[in-house]
Amino acid sequence: MRIAMIGTGYVGLVSGACFSEFGVSVTCVDNDARKIERLRQGEIPIYEPGLDQLVASNVAAGRLNFTTELKPAITGADAVFIAVGTPSRRGDGHADLSYVYAAAREIAASLSGFTVVVTKSTVPVGTGDEVERLIRETNPAADCVVASNPEFLREGAAIRDFKFPDRIVVGTSDERARKVLGDIYRPLSLNQAPMMFTARRTAELIKYAANASLATKITFINEMADLAEKVGADVQEVARGIGLDNRIGSKFLHAGPGYGGSCFPKDTLALMKTAQDNAAPLRIVETVVAVNDARKRGMVRKVASALGGNLRGKTIAVLGLTFKPNTDDMREAPSLAIVTALQDAGATVRAYDPAGMEQAKKVLENVEYSDGPYACAEGAHALVIVTEWEQFRALDLDRLKREMASPVIVDLRNVYRPDEMSRHDFAYESIGRGRRP
Ligand SMILES: NC(=O)c1ccc[n+]([C@@H]2O[C@H](COP(=O)([O-])OP(=O)(O)OC[C@H]3O[C@@H](n4cnc5c(N)ncnc54)[C@H](O)[C@@H]3O)[C@@H](O)[C@H]2O)c1
Repeated sequence: MRIAMIGTGYVGLVSGACFSEFGVSVTCVDNDARKIERLRQGEIPIYEPGLDQLVASNVAAGRLNFTTELKPAITGADAVFIAVGTPSRRGDGHADLSYVYAAAREIAASLSGFTVVVTKSTVPVGTGDEVERLIRETNPAADCVVASNPEFLREGAAIRDFKFPDRIVVGTSDERARKVLGDIYRPLSLNQAPMMFTARRTAELIKYAANASLATKITFINEMADLAEKVGADVQEVARGIGLDNRIGSKFLHAGPGYGGSCFPKDTLALMKTAQDNAAPLRIVETVVAVNDARKRGMVRKVASALGGNLRGKTIAVLGLTFKPNTDDMREAPSLAIVTALQDAGATVRAYDPAGMEQAKKVLENVEYSDGPYACAEGAHALVIVTEWEQFRALDLDRLKREMASPVIVDLRNVYRPDEMSRHDFAYESIGRGRRP
């Protein structure tokens, strides 16, 4: 089988490399010439554990290659996947589909023979219809079917998620398209991954419904954490107590500074807009979005209260900038709102992140970057853990205390235990672990 992957970002590169690992011949296309050049040099433009080896071995085996030229990649391909970005449109929060539509037009012009055009990007309901219309308009003779195949991988665990998905959703009612996608994904169904065929619009909505329900679960436990603090309860035990109920499940019940990243914020917003346009408002999702937006900046109140209410002139060490561990992705990371709010309150921010500092430098101003957690803590009045990277889980607390101007830790990921902190004489704030009044 031969496929082309249009868009070689977090989703396109991981999916392309994984498909090639199954034995499919994959050409990854991107219009960012620098990105393609780096990939051709064997350099991986994103941080994703295990991806460098996966790409290198499949390039060496001749099954995976990279190009900026669409036409040769598409000619003779059984399927062409669209995996370009769908960010929030400036101003109104709708998904910006300009990259998807541009890709559709470019693909249309180069189609030859029967081809399945597969939308892997997260797109609002009805986008498949428009992609199909654009292709027919550009190339009326094209023999192609447009299918939806939303992607559910998580950055940081993307390869495993792709190879062992909870399910594969394919939206098409065309038998030929089902056969092609069934063949491409066959190695995964051998791994027992359930493959679900449904209508295209349903597949498009499944992706948004999944992300909105996960964002809701996170926001629910975050609000429960606020209540736990007020009433002297421990949100981690509440999460365990409800998570052991199979109807609820234990995942996505970790209270923190609010969800961020390249998907939940933009997808909840886009879903909300689709719902409003269709006169079926999703009030739960609207509330989740509002609660989460307020939460990130509000985390700074915890830092201020740990320092007696005033941040002016204080140096704050921030550990972790990416929206979650094991990625360099800074899109909508809670750290962006937190760092800015700390600076607005008059603090100087010093930061360290194991993989995200290069990206952070592009979006955060006036931050002093450090080489490691202890250098970051030097002379700081408080240390704030924003992202739970493994290397922050077992810090040498005595060394940290020696580096700091005052022993104050604000742990927004509940990485440490309060008793451990008081044994080391730290003033310690965390999320949702109330003290009995
Ligand atoms: N990042 C995730 O964890 C994740 C998970 C599931 C779904 N998704 C969805 O997948 C889609 C892609 O997300 P991403 O994070 O990989 O985006 P990304 O920004 O990392 O990558 C998109 C790539 O597409 C390229 N591109 C844009 N237009 C192009 C064109 N016409 N021709 C060729 N290349 C083009 C860009 O240069 C870029 O390299 C989005 O819709 C996103 O919502 C992302």
